[in-house]
Amino acid sequence: MIWYPYEQMKTMKEPYKIIDADGVYLYTQDQKLIDSVSSWWCMIHGYKHPELTEAIKEQADHFCHVMLGGLTHDPVQKLSKKLEEFLPGDLDYCFFSDSGSVAVEVSLKMALQYNTNQGRKRPLVLALEHAYHGDTFKAMEVGDDEDYHFAFEEKAGVVHIPTEIAALEDVFEKYHDKLNCFIVEPLLQGAGGMRMYDIDFLKRARELCTKYDVLLIFDEVATGFGRTGNRFVADLVLPDILVLGKALTGGYIGHAVTVANHKVYDAFYSDNDRHALMHGPTFMGNALACAVALKGIEIFEREDYMSKVKRIEEISRREMADFTDPRIREVRIMGGCTCVEVYDPKTLEGFKQFAYERGVFSRPFLSYMYSMVPYVIKEEELVKIFDTMKEWFAM
Ligand SMILES: Cc1ncc(COP(=O)(O)O)c(C=O)c1O
Repeated sequence: MIWYPYEQMKTMKEPYKIIDADGVYLYTQDQKLIDSVSSWWCMIHGYKHPELTEAIKEQADHFCHVMLGGLTHDPVQKLSKKLEEFLPGDLDYCFFSDSGSVAVEVSLKMALQYNTNQGRKRPLVLALEHAYHGDTFKAMEVGDDEDYHFAFEEKAGVVHIPTEIAALEDVFEKYHDKLNCFIVEPLLQGAGGMRMYDIDFLKRARELCTKYDVLLIFDEVATGFGRTGNRFVADLVLPDILVLGKALTGGYIGHAVTVANHKVYDAFYSDNDRHALMHGPTFMGNALACAVALKGIEIFEREDYMSKVKRIEEISRREMADFTDPRIREVRIMGGCTCVEVYDPKTLEGFKQFAYERGVFSRPFLSYMYSMVPYVIKEEELVKIFDTMKEWFAM
């Protein structure tokens, strides 16, 4: 029997069974649904993209997987080379892993060991209030979302601050010699409630991190590849470590990467074996995942996906411009993400089924109704998502 995610199995409603998927559409036996959440935000090219499917098939004809321990192969070499050129600054060293959570773990391990390799004890991680970085243990610890991680109480190794410059300056003043890193979801905090904040906060964070040699980690598992309206937020403010997942493979196969800059890599590069990074997920650098990621990046560049995100943002702003309701606290839009936050979570009870009946797959959580659409969506499909949201409040 399947144990489903984030569900009380005793009261869970039967999930919709998908029998096919194509473009932005999911198909059940009796319904055709626009996927308004891109399968947990990863499916930027849409489903059954012929070139992506072909890239996987072609690689499968050679081999699907070999380990990276003592072996290497073309797809992983090409992907790391491509990322070196595609990513900003000196983010050049790619450590692959099988999921966003694991890639976050790797980044935190790098930050801690960056210090121990230099004979420094810096046990603390700085993170944001409402942060979400995944469901593995250290990722949960640096996360700050009661609704996901309430079972996990010990948070001795982390300090959380709001996205306010005064709080940032204050915490650096107090803890700068104990902090090994500052990890953030830059500009857009996803699972913590689609919270959006200003680039100035990150600019100040960069200055303070540089001043005190605290590593700045951008968890762009959700924001990477255009979601905020920037290719990467790392294009605006350069972190020391960048974590990518989800859209890296266009959502076709689970894979992620932790990319370090030269300063971080150099702290591990030594004659001392104990300075090595002791990590190695079985499926890191999986050949199918690398092949599809390479093809995905090629399409992203060739088809100018950033102009598609810009268009999505324009349509979203136009469609939601005058939309208000006494039950709505705020409508927020950034790039390819729109969030309608309500005062009372009960307001959204039943919306998922309501949307299903109108041909939209939506998955609101807590007080948040949102869309994170595939970038290949057509204008009328996007409008239909917003119309469905508005109709719900018109009832
Ligand atoms: C910002 C962020 N980091 C990490 C993760 C974890 O990624 P994964 O689900 O692939 O483990 C997520 C997942 O939603 C995320 O949004």
